[in-house]
Amino acid sequence: MGRKVIVAVCTLNQWALDFEGNLNRILQSVQEAKEMGALYRTGPELEISGYSCEDHFYEPDTFLHSWQVLAELLKSSTCKDILVDVGMPVQHRNVSYNCRVAFLNKKILLIRPKMMLCEDGNYRESRWFSCWTKERQIEDFFLPRIITSITNQSTVPIGDAVISTKDTCIGFEICEELWNPKSRHIPLSLDGVEIISNGSGSYMELRKAYVTVDLVKSATFKSGGAYLFSNLRGCDGQRIYFNGCSCVAVNGEIVSRGLQFALHDVEVVTATIDLEEIRAYRAMIRSRCHLAASNQPFPRITVDFALSDDQDMFLPVSTPIEWKYLTPEEEIELGPACWLWDYLRRSGQGGFFLPLSGGVDSTSTACIVYSMCTQICEAVQKGDPVSVRLHSVRSHGALQQIACHLASEIGSYHFSIVIDSAVSAVIGIFTTATSLVPKFRGKGGWRPGGLLVLGSSNVDEALRGYLTKYDCSSADVNPIGGISKTDLKSFLQYAKSRYYKRHQRLN
Ligand SMILES: *[C@@H]1O[C@H](CO)[C@@H](O)[C@H](O)[C@H]1NC(C)=O
Ligand SMILES: *[C@@H]1O[C@H](CO)[C@@H](O)[C@H](O)[C@H]1NC(C)=O
Ligand SMILES: *[C@@H]1O[C@H](CO)[C@@H](O)[C@H](O)[C@H]1NC(C)=O
Repeated sequence: MGRKVIVAVCTLNQWALDFEGNLNRILQSVQEAKEMGALYRTGPELEISGYSCEDHFYEPDTFLHSWQVLAELLKSSTCKDILVDVGMPVQHRNVSYNCRVAFLNKKILLIRPKMMLCEDGNYRESRWFSCWTKERQIEDFFLPRIITSITNQSTVPIGDAVISTKDTCIGFEICEELWNPKSRHIPLSLDGVEIISNGSGSYMELRKAYVTVDLVKSATFKSGGAYLFSNLRGCDGQRIYFNGCSCVAVNGEIVSRGLQFALHDVEVVTATIDLEEIRAYRAMIRSRCHLAASNQPFPRITVDFALSDDQDMFLPVSTPIEWKYLTPEEEIELGPACWLWDYLRRSGQGGFFLPLSGGVDSTSTACIVYSMCTQICEAVQKGDPVSVRLHSVRSHGALQQIACHLASEIGSYHFSIVIDSAVSAVIGIFTTATSLVPKFRGKGGWRPGGLLVLGSSNVDEALRGYLTKYDCSSADVNPIGGISKTDLKSFLQYAKSRYYKRHQRLN
């Protein structure tokens, strides 16, 4: 009798509205999951569209393109013979839901809409989505024709159901549903669901990692089972940083995990779970069993597929691991640095420009950029030469006239200022400092892209409006905008010991 199943959780660096890139990363994760022997793959929240589409979730195109990506996934041979569930936005009877869509071999099994939305902190999901409030109920979802032509299905179930394979049962809890006191994993596990999958979009906050880990562990401690947590990673076009940490917990212990901060776009981790261990664990908690006996069942979507096979006797089961938490200083070192890297490579710019005064804030910002460079170098094993570039753009006569014209049309005060002497002064200083003469690329300059100007205004300053206008406040991005002065001071102490030692070692 088969009893061991290999499951895969995925951390993906998705990007709002990058449908093609998102599709490729999902396909790569399915491919890697299969190569690692998994027969079930789950991924992060809204991975098809990207989580941070914001008001683009009002646009029908966002839903259409999500279906097109799903169509590619359904058709792909990569997704053959593996049960996959993906996160995407779905409209049902003209209401938008944040959903998991589970499919197997060109058939959609279930669309599971999120039942609790997140409104805390930077989240505002109810601006775009509604909760599915019909507990333990399913309805017919009418599929778009591009999907029907692939699956031959005209309707599929949508709602609060679970998937019953030949050997086990899979249920879903989407993000906030785990944090909520009335978490879905409780009735699910009472109903005999053995694998609960949570696709998340959880962003980094200093000192928060333990919360997720505690929640994931406790979700299976009281009532047994396997909990699969997949999270997004990266900046997703936002000012927040999704922080990975996908993991698998079984019966109250973490057995497998991904990295918290990393530069990989796709990270897949698997766990081998012994279903009989879950059953034995549950049988021992007598009060749980008595409660479960009176549980009202969930609708079950049955599928003729098994996650285990008969030959798995000698497959080693994943054993508990100890979670190593990063200190807040290490989190400051790594998180904002990874975020900067995402922002930089997506912006197509060539680097950063930082006014560096030597104070705590700008020094911290500089250390964070250094950490970014260190991480990139370590990741690729060989560094790209860091070059300094300056872009100077001057208005042509015609543009100047348009500006004057527009200003008078709208009745604003307008000054035409000739800045040639300022520009030549800047070029003079630049040339003296670097022995280089700045050139446009068209005139033989180096690589494309300018520099992103980094701000260095900490969160205390931002909240109180204490900043120097056009100095630390006038920047493209501000990597320390969410960190307090106190934390930055201890980060610098940490960076000093870490990098100074490292520097001495290298020399
Ligand atoms: C909107 O509702 C109508 C009627 O139920 C349905 O035919 C149509 O497909 C819906 N559109 C979407 C995008 O949900
Ligand atoms: C859909 O129907 C066509 C024609 O009957 C068949 O060739 C195809 O295999 C079917 N596809 C699926 C996924 O069932
Ligand atoms: C489920 O996902 C949400 C969203 O990130 C997360 O807050 C919650 O911790 C997850 N559940 C568990 C058990 O980790």
